[in-house]
Amino acid sequence: MSPPRDTMTTLLGRRYAAPFGIAPMGASALSAYRGDLVFAGASAAAGLPMILSGSSLIRMEEVRVAGPTAWYQAYLPGEPARIEPLVDRVAQAGFDTFVLTVDVPVSSNRENNVRNGYSLPLRPNPRLAWEGISHPRWLFGTALRTLRHHGMPHFENLDATRGPPVLSANLIRAIGRRDGLAWEHLELIRARWPGHLVIKGILSPQDARIARESGVDGVMVSNHGGRQLDGAISPLRALPGVVAEAGGMAVMLDGGIRRGSDVLKALALGAHFVFIGRPFLYAAAVAGEPGVRHAITLLWEEIHRNMAMLGITDLAQLRPEMLMRIRGG
Ligand SMILES: Cc1cc2nc3c(=O)[nH]c(=O)nc-3n(C[C@H](O)[C@H](O)[C@H](O)COP(=O)(O)O)c2cc1C
Repeated sequence: MSPPRDTMTTLLGRRYAAPFGIAPMGASALSAYRGDLVFAGASAAAGLPMILSGSSLIRMEEVRVAGPTAWYQAYLPGEPARIEPLVDRVAQAGFDTFVLTVDVPVSSNRENNVRNGYSLPLRPNPRLAWEGISHPRWLFGTALRTLRHHGMPHFENLDATRGPPVLSANLIRAIGRRDGLAWEHLELIRARWPGHLVIKGILSPQDARIARESGVDGVMVSNHGGRQLDGAISPLRALPGVVAEAGGMAVMLDGGIRRGSDVLKALALGAHFVFIGRPFLYAAAVAGEPGVRHAITLLWEEIHRNMAMLGITDLAQLRPEMLMRIRGG
């Protein structure tokens, strides 16, 4: 018998089994064998959404068939000639929700990646070879298995046409003038895109207001997992200010959600839904689709258990007063 508590959540006109989904993560198929399909299959089976990154390595058309709850996430330059064909392709592939990530106008300075030599595309060099040799499970279970069955992966979904391979001595991803992207381009997308439109990566109430006035259906409060700036306000702290300006928009949040209690905290502060990235990527890398299903179950059980301890049967009963403010935060 299922517990007498309801985690069903309506978001952008769809019913989901729980108030969380899988955040977009580029090159997931590099970390886990067929990573995007793993996410698409596990999330659809659980009745949850996943967001396919524009920097992914498996064609969006294939992912959407594997997981009909998948959304698409774009990184766009401020160039209508690149925006329009991509929007049309995403619509043709059958996606109903288009997420535009706006917090990567330029590449960030990831000092850990400077130190460990990681870049995309990967550069073939002795260091990369050593990484492969010293990680045989990944080498055989993901890298060589992918090459054998599917050939060299490419960035399939950045544009309407295929992008460069994920391993290359000299090719780069021609990402264009992302720092030229402006609200006028968002309005262009709004006019062309027939489905739900979400902006990911805002932290300020003013941006939420402009998004609302531009006809956006939802905003995702996010600092990109702390991967863009060396210091940023946490999404949970920024959330109440965005909620106050959201009007009828759906408010989502990601970043640092690791437990069912984290999900409930975000909902108590006014989020309608949260997305979770790295924990699912690790689950996929360790154990593929069963691993992601297991991680989903753990979170779902935590939410149910914590709802019982809070004495609520429905997520709509969550209130900010259930949280205590400490240290003037
Ligand atoms: C490996 C990795 C790749 C990511 N790639 C993307 C991406 O392609 N598009 C995007 O909007 N966000 C991307 N993100 C950010 C995540 O969507 C999310 O905002 C962030 O990881 C915070 O959630 P978390 O703390 O649960 O991981 C990426 C994050 C990681 C860790």
